[in-house]
Amino acid sequence: MASNNNIVVLGAGVVGLTTALLLLQRGYSVTIVAAHMPGDTDPYYTSPMAGANWWPVSLPNTREQDWDRITYLALDRLASEVPEAGIHYQDAIIYKRNKDQDTVMTQWQQTLLSDEPWFKGLVRGFRKLNKEEIRGDADSGTRFQSVCINAGVYLAWLVGECRKRGGVFKRRMVKHVEEAGEWHHTGGKVACVVNCTGLLASKLGGVMDAKVTPTRGQIVLVRNEIEAMYDISGTDDGDEECTYLMMRAAGGGTVIGGSYQKGNWDTNVDQSMNNRIMKRAIALAPELVKPGQGIEALDVIRTYAALRPLRIGGVRLEREKIGKTEVVHNYGAGGFGYQASYGMAEYSARLVDEVCGRKGPEEKAKL
Ligand SMILES: Cc1cc2nc3c(=O)[nH]c(=O)nc-3n(C[C@H](O)[C@H](O)[C@H](O)COP(=O)(O)OP(=O)(O)OC[C@H]3O[C@@H](n4cnc5c(N)ncnc54)[C@H](O)[C@@H]3O)c2cc1C
Ligand SMILES: *[C@@H]1O[C@H](CO)[C@@H](O)[C@H](O)[C@H]1NC(C)=O
Repeated sequence: MASNNNIVVLGAGVVGLTTALLLLQRGYSVTIVAAHMPGDTDPYYTSPMAGANWWPVSLPNTREQDWDRITYLALDRLASEVPEAGIHYQDAIIYKRNKDQDTVMTQWQQTLLSDEPWFKGLVRGFRKLNKEEIRGDADSGTRFQSVCINAGVYLAWLVGECRKRGGVFKRRMVKHVEEAGEWHHTGGKVACVVNCTGLLASKLGGVMDAKVTPTRGQIVLVRNEIEAMYDISGTDDGDEECTYLMMRAAGGGTVIGGSYQKGNWDTNVDQSMNNRIMKRAIALAPELVKPGQGIEALDVIRTYAALRPLRIGGVRLEREKIGKTEVVHNYGAGGFGYQASYGMAEYSARLVDEVCGRKGPEEKAKL
């Protein structure tokens, strides 16, 4: 059992920052050590690139479902009570085409595409779409209220919340687990290292995790506005492409996606894919442009490709003793790092409590 409450959180993506915040709320002394911080744009730093919204993909009666549920409650509170967090409500409209069966997208999104998802009673206003509401080549669909997060504003807000509670940030590239143990800002012994390294968990020296793999997503960010967030089960442009739109809070622009390309490390923008993404977006959300207008009427802020830190077989959230260092792993959030963030952080904090011999939180986490 550890004799102090000094924790090092490795990683300052949405997973690391949320974990650090929950640990600070529990009364731990936390140093956040990371190679990349909010404000950076680096292809291997995923969080600033995300949409991001709450569109659960977890299956019923799994720990992932619990993470999504816990996170919904937290994000709902932030959307209604904390404007500076950069989160707002937006209805989600999910379309299904009968011809999309057993593709990578439909398997990944089977919960979101379901008529009777487990979250039906959790969100507000869940209902099936009626015939007049079905667009394009869709056959059915659902609608519910959800949230959309302005990633840039939200990550910066998390940094501020951590600092307010005494969290200290250090920028370092960690080469080996053992080193992180020396980096608590007090200079004291470290009771536990929480490993929130995302995609780079596959690239580090030492114990590399071969199950972590990128899933490429290409995005067009535009100034045009939409009335709701849209998703559809598939496209006619191949199994790896998809269509979804969301408008970020606080002037963050409208995110148009995209693609879901497993094992693809390429962060160069594919221009022909961009054109397909924009065309499909206008077909799904015609209000983006004036009647009769095409993709030339999209006011593009930037386009980019980013990498979701997917872990084959699921997130790694467990304890491990590496040499003398107690580690809690918390990485591999793939395409759901925001919508599962509070749940993943809460489960990790419970493992830290275990490492430190604590029974429960000192300051009850405000969810
Ligand atoms: C196009 C796109 C759209 C997305 N949309 C959504 C969405 O709508 N909803 C949703 O929930 N999710 C979405 N995601 C997924 C989400 O972005 C990720 O799951 C999430 O950002 C992962 O966060 P993370 O903290 O694990 O990793 P990251 O944000 O990559 O952070 C990793 C951190 O670890 C640090 N690090 C790594 N290795 C080291 C080292 N050796 N030494 C020091 N520091 C290190 C990095 O510097 C960084 O600070 C989307 C992703 C993409 C690409
Ligand atoms: C985090 O996990 C990865 C993958 O297992 C590993 O390479 C890295 O050393 C770990 N870092 C820490 C601080 O435990």
